Amino acid sequence: MSELLIAPSMLAADLGQLSREARLAEDAGADWIHVDVMDGQFVPNLTMGPGVTRALRAATSIPLDVHLMIETPERLIDEFVDAGADRITVHQETCPHLHRVVQQIRDAGVSPGVAINPATPVESLREIVSFVDLILVMTVNPGFGGQPFIPNSPQKVGRTHQLLVESGREAKVRIQVDGGIGVETAPRVVEAGATVLVAGSAVFGAEGGPNQAIPQLRAAAGPG
Ligand code: DX5
Ligand code: ZN
Repeated sequence: MSELLIAPSMLAADLGQLSREARLAEDAGADWIHVDVMDGQFVPNLTMGPGVTRALRAATSIPLDVHLMIETPERLIDEFVDAGADRITVHQETCPHLHRVVQQIRDAGVSPGVAINPATPVESLREIVSFVDLILVMTVNPGFGGQPFIPNSPQKVGRTHQLLVESGREAKVRIQVDGGIGVETAPRVVEAGATVLVAGSAVFGAEGGPNQAIPQLRAAAGPG
């Protein structure tokens, strides 16, 4: 599973023109559209919900990768599926019954992922890696775009890769990184085993826009 995927985060797009921005990202070579959902509880910020997800579904044909930074995500999974999510990632920290929530996502016909915050150990994923398609290693504390990359993140990605190898899941589970990803940090996480890069400010905040930023990010990340 070495093909590198780029998932621009719509949080950094012009929120007044989300459909246009999503199409721009798709035309620029984005693989997935990353939708950051925040509830003002698990994280301090409030962002998009099922309504915006539905609007993005109508705007673009590439997969919608929904990152739920919300408490009790099980209450809203069906709504996001109905709105057109193709993949749903929940935080390990929000789910005491993580296996049940992952199954709920799978049973709804959507691809499940689990995210861990910077302070959450990789080892906490050992019993769930057999059931998910993606592990999201947060490379900033979730809540806001534009934060600096946490320096020990490549090592953590490496430990995640190691866990997947030990579990025999290396070929089946993608490692995604999110936060502070740009041309400087991308090669370091890709070398450590990341295969999906989420990037907000580096894509929508770039001077040349997504058209320049996405190919630049791919080139900087190397052959993977
Ligand atoms: C952070 C979000 C990220 C964020 C990334 O809580 O999950 O997806 O938008 O933004 P950048 O790429 O600007 O760090
Ligand atoms: Zn995210």
